[in-house]
Amino acid sequence: MSRRPVIAGNWKMNLSADDAIALAAAVRDRCGRFRDVDVVIAPQGMMLWPIARRLEGSPVGLAAQNCHWADKGAYTGEFSPVQLKETGCTHVIIGHSERRQYFGETDEGVGKKARALHDHGLIPILCVGESLQQRESGQTIAVVSSQVAAGVAELSDDELAETIIAYEPVWAIGTGLTASPEQAQDVHLEIRNLLSRLANEATAQRVRIQYGGSVKPSNVRELMSQADIDGALVGGASLTIDSFAQLVAHREDFDK
Ligand code: 13P
Repeated sequence: MSRRPVIAGNWKMNLSADDAIALAAAVRDRCGRFRDVDVVIAPQGMMLWPIARRLEGSPVGLAAQNCHWADKGAYTGEFSPVQLKETGCTHVIIGHSERRQYFGETDEGVGKKARALHDHGLIPILCVGESLQQRESGQTIAVVSSQVAAGVAELSDDELAETIIAYEPVWAIGTGLTASPEQAQDVHLEIRNLLSRLANEATAQRVRIQYGGSVKPSNVRELMSQADIDGALVGGASLTIDSFAQLVAHREDFDK
Protein backbone atom coordinates (compact mmCIF):
# COMPACT_ATOMS: atom_id res chain seq x y z
CA MET A 1 0.00 0.00 0.00
CA SER A 2 1.36 3.40 -0.84
CA ARG A 3 1.08 6.06 1.79
CA ARG A 4 1.61 9.73 1.04
CA PRO A 5 4.86 10.84 2.69
CA VAL A 6 4.73 13.63 5.25
CA ILE A 7 7.73 15.81 6.04
CA ALA A 8 7.36 17.95 9.15
CA GLY A 9 9.69 20.57 10.58
CA ASN A 10 9.71 20.90 14.36
CA TRP A 11 11.27 24.29 15.04
CA LYS A 12 11.22 23.73 18.83
CA MET A 13 12.10 26.90 20.82
CA ASN A 14 14.19 28.38 18.03
CA LEU A 15 14.09 31.41 15.71
CA SER A 16 13.18 35.02 16.36
CA ALA A 17 9.70 36.17 15.34
CA ASP A 18 11.05 37.82 12.19
CA ASP A 19 13.11 34.77 11.25
CA ALA A 20 10.19 32.40 11.89
CA ILE A 21 7.84 34.42 9.69
CA ALA A 22 10.44 34.65 6.94
CA LEU A 23 11.11 30.90 7.09
CA ALA A 24 7.40 30.10 6.99
CA ALA A 25 6.97 32.29 3.91
CA ALA A 26 9.93 30.60 2.27
CA VAL A 27 8.50 27.14 3.03
CA ARG A 28 5.17 28.24 1.53
CA ASP A 29 6.88 29.52 -1.60
CA ARG A 30 9.38 26.71 -2.12
CA CYS A 31 7.78 23.62 -0.59
CA GLY A 32 4.08 24.10 -1.30
CA ARG A 33 4.31 22.96 -4.91
CA PHE A 34 5.25 19.30 -4.47
CA ARG A 35 2.15 17.27 -5.15
CA ASP A 36 3.29 13.92 -3.82
CA VAL A 37 4.30 14.91 -0.28
CA ASP A 38 2.58 16.58 2.65
CA VAL A 39 4.56 19.38 4.29
CA VAL A 40 3.99 20.57 7.85
CA ILE A 41 5.81 23.17 9.93
CA ALA A 42 5.66 23.45 13.73
CA PRO A 43 6.74 26.92 14.86
CA GLN A 44 7.01 27.98 18.48
CA GLY A 45 3.50 28.61 19.90
CA MET A 46 3.58 32.41 19.96
CA MET A 47 4.23 32.43 16.23
CA LEU A 48 1.29 30.27 15.17
CA TRP A 49 -1.13 33.09 14.56
CA PRO A 50 0.98 35.29 12.23
CA ILE A 51 2.30 32.24 10.41
CA ALA A 52 -1.20 30.82 9.93
CA ARG A 53 -2.15 34.06 8.16
CA ARG A 54 0.79 33.65 5.79
CA LEU A 55 -0.06 30.03 5.02
CA GLU A 56 -3.69 30.71 4.07
CA GLY A 57 -4.42 29.11 0.72
CA SER A 58 -1.21 27.08 0.83
CA PRO A 59 -1.10 23.28 1.18
CA VAL A 60 1.58 23.60 3.89
CA GLY A 61 0.19 22.34 7.19
CA LEU A 62 0.67 24.14 10.49
CA ALA A 63 1.36 22.26 13.72
CA ALA A 64 1.56 23.33 17.34
CA GLN A 65 4.28 21.64 19.36
CA ASN A 66 1.99 20.73 22.26
CA CYS A 67 -1.55 21.26 23.56
CA HIS A 68 -3.78 20.64 26.54
CA TRP A 69 -6.65 18.16 26.26
CA ALA A 70 -9.31 20.46 27.74
CA ASP A 71 -11.31 22.88 25.58
CA LYS A 72 -10.66 25.75 28.01
CA GLY A 73 -10.09 26.44 31.68
CA ALA A 74 -7.62 27.34 34.40
CA TYR A 75 -4.47 25.85 32.84
CA THR A 76 -1.94 28.66 32.88
CA GLY A 77 0.42 28.63 29.94
CA GLU A 78 -1.44 26.02 27.90
CA PHE A 79 -3.12 26.05 24.48
CA SER A 80 -6.38 24.19 23.90
CA PRO A 81 -7.22 22.24 20.75
CA VAL A 82 -10.15 24.62 20.21
CA GLN A 83 -7.82 27.62 20.25
CA LEU A 84 -5.29 25.92 18.02
CA LYS A 85 -7.93 25.02 15.49
CA GLU A 86 -9.27 28.56 15.51
CA THR A 87 -5.76 29.89 15.00
CA GLY A 88 -5.38 27.85 11.83
CA CYS A 89 -3.46 24.79 12.98
CA THR A 90 -3.99 21.52 11.14
CA HIS A 91 -1.73 19.27 13.23
CA VAL A 92 -0.36 19.12 16.79
CA ILE A 93 2.78 17.33 17.95
CA ILE A 94 2.09 15.40 21.15
CA GLY A 95 4.32 13.33 23.40
CA HIS A 96 7.61 14.67 22.06
CA SER A 97 10.45 13.15 24.08
CA GLU A 98 11.57 16.62 25.19
CA ARG A 99 8.13 17.16 26.72
CA ARG A 100 8.13 13.69 28.28
CA GLN A 101 11.65 14.24 29.65
CA TYR A 102 11.55 17.87 30.82
CA PHE A 103 7.85 18.57 31.40
CA GLY A 104 6.51 15.33 32.82
CA GLU A 105 4.28 14.41 29.89
CA THR A 106 2.80 10.96 30.51
CA ASP A 107 1.45 8.23 28.24
CA GLU A 108 -1.99 8.76 29.75
CA GLY A 109 -1.91 12.50 29.05
CA VAL A 110 -0.75 11.89 25.49
CA GLY A 111 -3.73 9.57 24.96
CA LYS A 112 -6.09 12.28 26.24
CA LYS A 113 -4.52 14.82 23.92
CA ALA A 114 -4.90 12.51 20.91
CA ARG A 115 -8.57 12.04 21.77
CA ALA A 116 -9.15 15.80 22.19
CA LEU A 117 -7.38 16.65 18.93
CA HIS A 118 -9.57 14.31 16.91
CA ASP A 119 -12.63 15.79 18.63
CA HIS A 120 -11.67 19.10 17.04
CA GLY A 121 -10.52 17.92 13.64
CA LEU A 122 -6.79 18.27 14.30
CA ILE A 123 -4.27 15.59 13.34
CA PRO A 124 -1.98 14.40 16.13
CA ILE A 125 1.67 13.75 15.38
CA LEU A 126 2.22 11.26 18.19
CA CYS A 127 5.89 10.94 19.15
CA VAL A 128 7.36 7.80 20.66
CA GLY A 129 10.90 6.57 21.20
CA GLU A 130 13.31 4.87 23.52
CA SER A 131 16.32 6.25 25.40
CA LEU A 132 19.83 4.94 24.81
CA GLN A 133 19.72 3.03 28.08
CA GLN A 134 16.41 1.43 27.09
CA ARG A 135 17.80 0.43 23.69
CA GLU A 136 20.96 -1.01 25.21
CA SER A 137 18.95 -3.06 27.67
CA GLY A 138 16.75 -4.52 24.93
CA GLN A 139 13.59 -2.63 25.86
CA THR A 140 13.07 -0.67 22.64
CA ILE A 141 10.02 -2.54 21.38
CA ALA A 142 8.39 -2.78 24.82
CA VAL A 143 8.81 0.95 25.48
CA VAL A 144 7.68 2.09 22.05
CA SER A 145 4.75 -0.33 22.04
CA SER A 146 3.40 0.89 25.36
CA GLN A 147 3.76 4.53 24.26
CA VAL A 148 1.89 3.84 21.02
CA ALA A 149 -0.82 1.76 22.68
CA ALA A 150 -1.52 4.42 25.31
CA GLY A 151 -1.42 7.21 22.74
CA VAL A 152 -4.06 5.66 20.47
CA ALA A 153 -6.14 3.91 23.13
CA GLU A 154 -9.12 6.24 22.83
CA LEU A 155 -9.27 6.44 19.02
CA SER A 156 -11.60 4.79 16.54
CA ASP A 157 -10.06 2.92 13.62
CA ASP A 158 -10.65 5.84 11.25
CA GLU A 159 -9.15 8.30 13.71
CA LEU A 160 -6.15 6.03 14.14
CA ALA A 161 -5.71 5.86 10.36
CA GLU A 162 -5.53 9.68 10.25
CA THR A 163 -3.06 9.90 13.12
CA ILE A 164 0.63 10.33 12.30
CA ILE A 165 3.07 8.45 14.49
CA ALA A 166 6.65 9.71 14.76
CA TYR A 167 9.28 7.24 15.90
CA GLU A 168 12.07 9.33 17.38
CA PRO A 169 14.75 7.41 19.27
CA VAL A 170 15.82 9.80 22.02
CA TRP A 171 19.50 9.01 21.47
CA ALA A 172 19.25 10.23 17.86
CA ILE A 173 17.60 13.59 18.57
CA GLY A 174 19.91 16.54 18.07
CA THR A 175 22.95 14.32 18.52
CA GLY A 176 23.98 13.80 14.91
CA LEU A 177 23.48 10.06 15.52
CA THR A 178 20.84 8.64 13.20
CA ALA A 179 19.23 5.25 13.54
CA SER A 180 20.34 3.19 10.56
CA PRO A 181 17.59 2.71 7.99
CA GLU A 182 17.38 -0.94 9.09
CA GLN A 183 17.14 -0.06 12.79
CA ALA A 184 14.39 2.44 12.06
CA GLN A 185 12.54 0.09 9.70
CA ASP A 186 12.58 -2.68 12.34
CA VAL A 187 10.83 -0.44 14.86
CA HIS A 188 8.41 0.99 12.28
CA LEU A 189 7.37 -2.51 11.28
CA GLU A 190 6.84 -3.45 14.94
CA ILE A 191 4.66 -0.36 15.37
CA ARG A 192 2.61 -1.26 12.31
CA ASN A 193 2.19 -4.84 13.51
CA LEU A 194 1.05 -3.52 16.89
CA LEU A 195 -1.48 -1.22 15.20
CA SER A 196 -2.75 -4.19 13.25
CA ARG A 197 -3.34 -6.07 16.50
CA LEU A 198 -4.91 -3.03 18.22
CA ALA A 199 -7.19 -2.24 15.26
CA ASN A 200 -6.89 -4.29 12.08
CA GLU A 201 -4.48 -4.76 9.19
CA ALA A 202 -6.26 -2.38 6.80
CA THR A 203 -6.20 0.44 9.36
CA ALA A 204 -2.57 -0.23 10.25
CA GLN A 205 -1.61 0.00 6.58
CA ARG A 206 -3.11 3.49 6.36
CA VAL A 207 -1.17 4.98 9.29
CA ARG A 208 1.80 7.12 8.35
CA ILE A 209 4.84 6.52 10.53
CA GLN A 210 7.54 9.18 10.42
CA TYR A 211 11.13 8.74 11.52
CA GLY A 212 12.80 11.54 13.51
CA GLY A 213 16.32 11.98 14.86
CA SER A 214 19.05 13.82 12.96
CA VAL A 215 17.32 13.54 9.59
CA LYS A 216 19.18 15.62 7.02
CA PRO A 217 19.42 15.91 3.24
CA SER A 218 22.28 13.39 3.15
CA ASN A 219 20.35 10.56 4.84
CA VAL A 220 16.69 11.24 4.02
CA ARG A 221 16.51 9.17 0.82
CA GLU A 222 17.90 6.05 2.43
CA LEU A 223 15.55 6.34 5.40
CA MET A 224 12.52 7.04 3.22
CA SER A 225 13.29 4.09 0.98
CA GLN A 226 12.33 1.73 3.80
CA ALA A 227 8.95 0.06 3.43
CA ASP A 228 7.41 1.37 6.65
CA ILE A 229 9.03 4.82 6.85
CA ASP A 230 6.47 7.27 5.53
CA GLY A 231 8.02 10.60 6.36
CA ALA A 232 10.31 12.52 8.65
CA LEU A 233 9.95 14.74 11.70
CA VAL A 234 12.91 17.05 11.50
CA GLY A 235 14.44 19.40 14.06
CA GLY A 236 17.76 21.05 13.21
CA ALA A 237 17.59 20.56 9.44
CA SER A 238 14.17 22.23 9.28
CA LEU A 239 15.53 25.57 10.49
CA THR A 240 16.97 26.70 7.17
CA ILE A 241 15.01 26.80 3.95
CA ASP A 242 17.67 25.15 1.82
CA SER A 243 17.97 22.00 3.90
CA PHE A 244 14.23 21.74 4.58
CA ALA A 245 13.38 22.21 0.90
CA GLN A 246 15.85 19.46 0.03
CA LEU A 247 14.15 17.12 2.50
CA VAL A 248 10.74 17.92 1.04
CA ALA A 249 12.02 17.47 -2.51
CA HIS A 250 13.99 14.33 -1.79
CA ARG A 251 12.12 12.35 -4.43
CA GLU A 252 12.36 14.94 -7.16
CA ASP A 253 14.97 16.83 -9.05
CA PHE A 254 15.23 19.74 -6.76
CA ASP A 255 14.60 22.67 -9.10
CA LYS A 256 12.07 21.03 -11.37
P1 13P B 1 16.77 16.70 15.16
O1 13P B 1 16.35 16.55 13.71
O2 13P B 1 17.39 18.04 15.44
O3 13P B 1 17.58 15.54 15.63
O4 13P B 1 15.41 16.70 16.03
C1 13P B 1 14.51 15.68 15.85
C2 13P B 1 13.27 16.00 16.58
O5 13P B 1 13.23 15.97 17.79
C3 13P B 1 12.08 16.39 15.80
O6 13P B 1 10.94 16.42 16.59
